[in-house]
Amino acid sequence: MTNEQPTATRAETAPTERAGHATDDRSQIVIDVRDLSLAFAKPVLCEVSFQVREGEALSILGPSGVGKSTILKLILRLLVPDGGQVVIDGEDINQLTFEEVLEVRQKMGMVFQAAALFDSLTVYENVAYPLREHMRLAESDVEDQVRQALALVDMELEEFGMRLPSELSGGQKKRVGIARAIVHQPKILLYDEPTTGLDPLTANTIVELIQRLQRELDVTSVVVSHDVRAVMAVSTHIAMLRDCRICFYGTPEEMEASTDEYVRQFID
Ligand SMILES: Nc1ncnc2c1ncn2[C@@H]1O[C@H](COP(=O)(O)OP(=O)(O)OP(=O)(O)O)[C@@H](O)[C@H]1O
Ligand SMILES: [Mg+2]
Repeated sequence: MTNEQPTATRAETAPTERAGHATDDRSQIVIDVRDLSLAFAKPVLCEVSFQVREGEALSILGPSGVGKSTILKLILRLLVPDGGQVVIDGEDINQLTFEEVLEVRQKMGMVFQAAALFDSLTVYENVAYPLREHMRLAESDVEDQVRQALALVDMELEEFGMRLPSELSGGQKKRVGIARAIVHQPKILLYDEPTTGLDPLTANTIVELIQRLQRELDVTSVVVSHDVRAVMAVSTHIAMLRDCRICFYGTPEEMEASTDEYVRQFID
């Protein structure tokens, strides 16, 4: 690990400080990440802190291997940190029992890197999966919710429901992955590289979709990506990771105006 400390590009956001809002009002904080540290063979995250308030969309930007997906796994408690806390709606999720964690996860929808659909299940069964996993619903209710979720991503149940993932384009797979993430009406949406691997036009339709869901579903989102243009378009705030720490936190406008060399490398 390097001892070199990246300089924060916003005077009030030193990397060791919490990236978020300099106000004491904690009422709307949905995700509160405090001094999160995790090492595998070497440190991946070093006392990373940030907050996401209700309705915000925070993007976490950084090069491959920097720890972006790891942050999402920690928020879902698929991983346990070496130090620090992940507080969701006021609950430190690392202090919860497994059953309690499942309840907290019900508040979240995750769009995985590379869609991660079940190849042997139809679109209908893929989207229905979170409903069957956690809830006991009548089949007609499952169908209604799957239909609604697919409609939100501009897909019709009649046209796509019985198809297998292998019968979909890359953009359609992403849409199904998003429908699966929203089908149980979570208040938190987590996206891992939602536009990666798509052509620019299709990527743009996914960006528009994320913006629309943000408006229509009243969700709080965390998007991890190395696609700067997508991030600029969908986020209310951006955190940049470098050498296991947050080196920049600000709005897309603040990022665009930054003169920091590392930030500029990303934008240009
Ligand atoms: N389960 C694991 N065991 C060991 N090392 C891991 C594990 N998961 C991730 N890592 C390592 O942690 C680092 C961060 O991985 P992560 O997947 O979070 O990166 P990322 O920023 O999402 O990269 P990409 O943009 O390529 O998806 C990498 O060096 C990776 O090799
Ligand atoms: Mg990743």
